[in-house]
Amino acid sequence: MGKVFVTRSIPQDGISMLQSRFEVEVWDGCDPPPRDVLLAKISGCSGVLTMLSDRVDNAFLDAAGSVLKGVANFAVGFNNIDVDAATERGVAIGNTPGVLTDATADTAVGLMIAAGRCFLPAVRNVSELQWRNWEPMMFLGQEFRGKTLGIVGMGRIGSAVAERLHFGWGMKVIYTSRTDKEEVGQRLAAKRVDLETLLQESDVISLHTSLQKDTRGLIGRAQFGLMKPNAILINTARGEIIDQDALVDALKSRRLFAAGLDVTDPEPLPSDSPLRELDSCIILPHIGSATFQARSRMSIMAAENLIAAIGGSPMPYGLNRVS
Ligand code: NAP
Ligand code: GLV
Ligand code: GLV
Repeated sequence: MGKVFVTRSIPQDGISMLQSRFEVEVWDGCDPPPRDVLLAKISGCSGVLTMLSDRVDNAFLDAAGSVLKGVANFAVGFNNIDVDAATERGVAIGNTPGVLTDATADTAVGLMIAAGRCFLPAVRNVSELQWRNWEPMMFLGQEFRGKTLGIVGMGRIGSAVAERLHFGWGMKVIYTSRTDKEEVGQRLAAKRVDLETLLQESDVISLHTSLQKDTRGLIGRAQFGLMKPNAILINTARGEIIDQDALVDALKSRRLFAAGLDVTDPEPLPSDSPLRELDSCIILPHIGSATFQARSRMSIMAAENLIAAIGGSPMPYGLNRVS
């Protein structure tokens, strides 16, 4: 019976599947295990179920040792994992694609409305006991019907956001991706453009690329300079895709109307981050996929990945090929 370490408490569905087959330890601290504790806990494990905040690198793989067969990330993003290093050692890596698409797309749409309609200063106004009258000129925001939506990264979540806003709000959709997305292109009358054009033409820009070398810092000073002054920027992908100092300057100088972020760099955002001060920047603590349904399905997929890898089969949602 192999050993499995689960680095945080997750829904029981996946845990029960693992418990019926393996000796399972679940870290149930309020905070993640400190790095040295994590490395000690995974020693001799056949499988590890990791969070997006756990770095899976050579030191991690060394600490687990040669019995390690698979690492299942409890996330679709896997920028925390050195997949090549794992492949070299014959360790399978898997993620949880698809089952969190709707939850995350809903979060992006919610952020668009919240940022565009000034929910953050409005809520602050109520909670800080400043609400006196019905004010015709306070908290005026933007409308979305018929406006242009720019999706950066037309993958699963990008197309789910585009679908909601095209059919729901009648938005015109343009997008960037390294490849043409013919099916969504036809269904949503969405046109693929270059990033420069997207930034110049969009009223709402929503980021959905994975984080990798060519998307780190993709949205920086030059890119903010191209945006419309009333543009709204939404990021539910990864914080590192935006140059955050450039975002602060752009918001302070009203180069754009507002931003809605579910992800930041780093996470959590430091207490003295200037982003926290800005009424035009609404920030969520990375809750994109935080629905009962998505998290339950993610736990099952991650368990299926580990069961397969430890049993010597390919992971059903695998990211690498190992023999
Ligand atoms: P996906 O289907 O793989 O979509 C990513 C898309 O980005 C792909 O279609 C890819 O298309 C495109 N892309 C990659 N590099 C690009 C570039 N340089 N320029 C433009 N487009 C590029 O993944 P997904 O399931 O939609 O998830 C997307 C990301 O969202 C994840 O990687 C994760 O980091 C993040 N996420 C966050 C949350 C949250 O809680 N906030 C939840 C889930 C996911 P091409 O290959 O054709 O370029
Ligand atoms: C969340 O950020 C994920 O990548 O699943
Ligand atoms: C607002 O509450 C309105 O009735 O217009």
